[in-house]
Amino acid sequence: MGHPTQIEHAFQHQTIVILDFGSQYTQLIARRIRELGVYCEIHPYNVNPDIFLKQNAKGIVLSGGPASVYDTDAPRVGKQILELNLPVLGICYGLQLITFLTNGEVVKAEKKEYGLAELEITGESLLFKDIPGQSKVWMSHGDKVLKLGEGFKVIGCTKNAPYAAIEHETKPIFGLQFHPEVEHSKYGKKVLSNFVFEICGCSGDWSPKSFIEESIQSIRERVGNRRVLCALSGGVDSSVAAVLIHRAIGNQLHCVFVDTGLLRYREAEEVENVFRKHFNINLTVVKAQKLFFEKLKGVSDPEQKRKIIGREFIGVFEKEAKKLGDFHFLAQGTLYPDVIESTSFKGPSATIKSHHNVGGLPETFDFELLEPLRELFKDEVRQVGRELGIPEMIIERHPFPGPGLAVRILGEVTEKRVELLQKADAIYIQELWKNGLYNQIWQAFAVLLPVRTVGVMGDQRTYEHVIGLRAVTSSDGMTADWFRMPNEVLARISNRIINEVQGINRVVYDISSKPPATIEWE
Ligand code: XMP
Repeated sequence: MGHPTQIEHAFQHQTIVILDFGSQYTQLIARRIRELGVYCEIHPYNVNPDIFLKQNAKGIVLSGGPASVYDTDAPRVGKQILELNLPVLGICYGLQLITFLTNGEVVKAEKKEYGLAELEITGESLLFKDIPGQSKVWMSHGDKVLKLGEGFKVIGCTKNAPYAAIEHETKPIFGLQFHPEVEHSKYGKKVLSNFVFEICGCSGDWSPKSFIEESIQSIRERVGNRRVLCALSGGVDSSVAAVLIHRAIGNQLHCVFVDTGLLRYREAEEVENVFRKHFNINLTVVKAQKLFFEKLKGVSDPEQKRKIIGREFIGVFEKEAKKLGDFHFLAQGTLYPDVIESTSFKGPSATIKSHHNVGGLPETFDFELLEPLRELFKDEVRQVGRELGIPEMIIERHPFPGPGLAVRILGEVTEKRVELLQKADAIYIQELWKNGLYNQIWQAFAVLLPVRTVGVMGDQRTYEHVIGLRAVTSSDGMTADWFRMPNEVLARISNRIINEVQGINRVVYDISSKPPATIEWE
C-alpha cells in the first residue's frame, strides 16, 4: 500500500501548515509549534492549496530553504498564498519569497551571514509582544532583502540585515530573516508563540492526551471488526503503537515478537512481561535463535550478516503470521519524520537512512498498513507512551539496530560470543541508569572485539576477550559526538565487567565522533 501524502483526521484540530522549501530546520519549526500545544503539519511547498481548507488551517509558515528566489528552478508558490485570508510567517527563504512575490528586491549578500546577531526591534508588532528591544537571534542566509515588497514595513533589523523582520501594513503577513525555531534565538519560541496564539488565534488544543483519545476513536472506526498484526521489536515506536492499538481494539490485535537470539540481555523475557502479563496483549514470541545462529555460522562480513538476518526475519515472521490466521492490517510504528521524508524534499539524509532499514518488513506484504503514530515526532511518541503507562525503561530506550548484537560482535557470531556481549552490555547499561547518565546519551552499547589480549589474574596469565564501550550524543543519529563519560563511572563499569563476566579481561572506551567514524562498529 502506498503512503497517502495527507493525513486524514477523525477530528479537526486547529492546524498551522508549514510549506517546506527544503531547510534543514523545517522539522524543528513543526516541533516548536507542537510544543506550544498547536497541531502543525509540514507539506511540500507545491501542495494543492485545498489543504488549507481541509485542515482547519489557522496560519501558514513558509520555511527556509537553500535556494535563491531568482534561481530558475527555485521552489516557488504563487501570490495566492498571501491572499487566502490566513496569517503567513515567512522564515529566511520564506521572507525572501514574500518579498519577491510582492515586487520587492532580493540580492545576494556580499558575504553569507551565519551565526548569532543582535536583533533590534524597530516597530511595534504583535509578533514581538513581550520581547525585549534587543536580543540574540540565529542567522543563516546568503541572500538578503534590498527593497521591501509593496505594502510592507520594517519591524526589526540587525547590523547586517536592515530588513531582518518585516510586516505588512494591513494584513497579517510577516517575514523573519533569522530562525526563531533554533534555540540560539533567545526569544524565538516566544516569537512563534506570538504568531500562533496572538496572530493566528490558536487555542492550543493539541496534547498527547487528546491525541490518544482521538486515535482510539479513529482506529476503531477504521479497523471495524477486522484483525491487526503487529511486529513488536521492543523499541519505543512499535511498543507505543501496539499499546495504543490494543486500547482501541483489544483482542483483535495480535503481536509477534521474533527472538533472533541477537537481542539484549533478557530482552525477550522483558517483552513478554510487559506486553503479555502487564498489558494483557495477545503476543506470540517466536523462539528462532537456533535458525539465526545456524544461518550466521562462519559469516563475519557485516553486510552479509545484515542480509541474512533481514531475510530470515521476514521468513520467520511470515510463517508465524500465516499460522495465526487472517489479518487485514499490519501495524507499524512509522513516525512523522519518515512520512515527511517520503513526501517532501529528499535530502541526503533520506538516503543514509534507507541503508539501515535492514531487519524491517517488506512493503510488498499483502496487508493494509495501520500507522497510528504517523503524525508524531519521537518526543511526542514518548509522551504518548508515558500517558499509556508504558514503563520508562522502554520509553527511554536507546535505538537498537535491526540486526541486533550481530553487528556488535566483530567477526563470527556464535551463541557463546552473544552471551559474553549480553552480560557486558547489561552491566554497562545498568550502570548508566544507576548513575543518571542513560538519558543524557543518545545511544550506548558494548561491542565484542575480534581480538584477545593478555592479562593477569592472581598468579595466572589470561588470554581473553576485549569489550569496547560506545556512548554517543546525537539528535538524529546522522552525526554524533562521543559522550564525555565521568572517569569514576568508566572505572566502575570496567571493573564490574572484568570481574563479573568470565572471558573478558580488558575494556576500552571509544572516543570517535561521527563522521568520520560511525556509531556502530560494523
Ligand atoms: P551508524 O553506525 O551508521 O548508525 O552511525 C546510525 C544509526 O543507525 C543504526 N543502525 C542500524 N539500524 N539496521 C538498523 O535498523 C542496521 O543495519 C543498522 N546499522 C546501524 C545505529 O544503531 C544508529 O542508531
